[in-house]
Amino acid sequence: MTDTEVRLRTAHTADLAPAESAAIRAMLDAAFAGHPDGAFTDADWDHTVGGIHVMAWEGDALIGHASVVQRRLLHGGRALRTGYVEAVAVRADRRRRGHGSALMSVAERYIRGAYELGALGAAEEAVPFYTGRGWQLWQGPTSVLTPHDGVVPTPDEDGWIYVFPLAPTPLDPTAPLTCDWRDGDVW
Ligand SMILES: CC(C)(COP(=O)(O)OP(=O)(O)OC[C@H]1O[C@@H](n2cnc3c(N)ncnc32)[C@H](O)[C@@H]1OP(=O)(O)O)[C@@H](O)C(=O)NCCC(=O)NCCS
Repeated sequence: MTDTEVRLRTAHTADLAPAESAAIRAMLDAAFAGHPDGAFTDADWDHTVGGIHVMAWEGDALIGHASVVQRRLLHGGRALRTGYVEAVAVRADRRRRGHGSALMSVAERYIRGAYELGALGAAEEAVPFYTGRGWQLWQGPTSVLTPHDGVVPTPDEDGWIYVFPLAPTPLDPTAPLTCDWRDGDVW
């Protein structure tokens, strides 16, 4: 028996068919069930939408997903237009076959072409996956710009934020990095 071909598709959230959207949510719910970082929540879904989705389809089954959404990260006195990577997952029985890498290659092309910086919050098990692709640990302190209390440190996130530097953007990875506000996990 030959393997079913895996097809990559990219679409803005606005162009997802309802069935595609439902397939993405179901795949993410399953992929993060029992995950050390916790289950996939409605807030996580809110962070997943509003940008570009990269999907890996095996026939009519969705086996992988990543999305890139725009955020502003404050660094060195600038509000960097950032392609933030969310909801990266490959179905458990299809991991270590290169599908995650294929999804990230497309996500990184969007980041290179449209943003000043790429960023993501990594799960521990995914660190070798991202570092192997050139993502770099943010070594400086992280924080969030809150609506009422200004810039508030996010020490639990220190050591888990990775960036995809782009040559024209000056970065000091030992200096502070602040994300914009949102409900749920801010990073
Ligand atoms: C992280 C994840 C998306 C990787 O997808 P994948 O399709 O298995 O990744 P790939 O096959 O493209 O892996 C490419 C390389 O990354 C590294 N890598 C991937 N998963 C790894 C793991 N669990 N441990 C160590 N290295 C890993 C390896 O170097 C791998 O190359 P190799 O298989 O030749 O050794 C997948 O494990 C997953 O869905 N995990 C659960 C959800 C999750 O944690 N997502 C990340 C949230 S930040």
